[in-house]
Amino acid sequence: MKIQQLCTIAALATLSTAALAEFPEKPVVLVVPFAAGGPSDKIARDLAEAMRKTLPQPVIVENAAGAGGTIGVAKVARANADGHTLLVHHIGMATAPALYRKLSYKMPEDFEYLGLINESPSTVITRPNMEARNFGELRQWIAANPGKVNLAHAGLGSASHLCGLMLQSALKADMTTIAYKGTAPAMTDLLGGQVDIMCDQATNAVPQIEAGKVKLYAVTSAQRSKQAAIASAPTLNEAGLPGFNVSIWHGLYAPKGTPAAVLGKLNGALRAALKDPDFVKKQEALGVSVVSDNRLEAAGHKKFVEDEMNRWSVVIKAAGQYAD
Ligand code: MLT
Repeated sequence: MKIQQLCTIAALATLSTAALAEFPEKPVVLVVPFAAGGPSDKIARDLAEAMRKTLPQPVIVENAAGAGGTIGVAKVARANADGHTLLVHHIGMATAPALYRKLSYKMPEDFEYLGLINESPSTVITRPNMEARNFGELRQWIAANPGKVNLAHAGLGSASHLCGLMLQSALKADMTTIAYKGTAPAMTDLLGGQVDIMCDQATNAVPQIEAGKVKLYAVTSAQRSKQAAIASAPTLNEAGLPGFNVSIWHGLYAPKGTPAAVLGKLNGALRAALKDPDFVKKQEALGVSVVSDNRLEAAGHKKFVEDEMNRWSVVIKAAGQYAD
């Protein structure tokens, strides 16, 4: 190898070390592809606060809502791959490719996988004046009102949409679905009685359940939750829908091509945040468990998303749901 080539490599190595030493040299933005105030936004804001403790720059949240989260995801796919624009997103990362015929980003190749953050059960909740005393009576009421039950969700591919889709097909129910830009605005209408039912993440539902403002009928995960406000709720599996199992996970992503050294620094800040006692306490208070396994590594995170893509494409195709 010629001396000039060695000098170039040495110069680039120095440059990258210097660049890494500076990173981040400006605020790090966590893009949330749903409206402010919803579960994804809440998780991102708590994560930003925890990551700030190990990064020498502010970590801020930016909401880019719409189209079931795909608008915000596309925004990050197109962002500069310098580590200052990241994405906090959930199961929609794995479901959008099966739901949307024209996506403006490619999965899984348009992203770097910084690690999985958490897993949360969803809850089957209704407007506060619902008369059904348990899930069995709610099921009868839904069957007796074909086409009249309004189910709220956050757009095609959102967690609430997928969970609502699974619920409708498991019940063989005919419900009218109402889309919002997030389950925060959807929750406002549920509390007001404008819509009847929603399948929403515990992150969003628990505070309303604790306040007695919505009625809880079941949780969607395979096991009951340990969180006090929802611990008494049966799983849908127990309540007559055998095999029903929907858990909503969130992950952290960077645009493809972000330098490996920057990815390593961001993964380190994520790992520290997931061990931060304040962050863990906030997540557990909402019935959410923090990830601590190999899905915190890029390969484990990416393989998990690819497996979820395969799982959900079967469910979505069977339900015949598509968006152009
Ligand atoms: C939100 O943050 O609004 C939710 O994640 C929307 C959804 O996916 O249901």
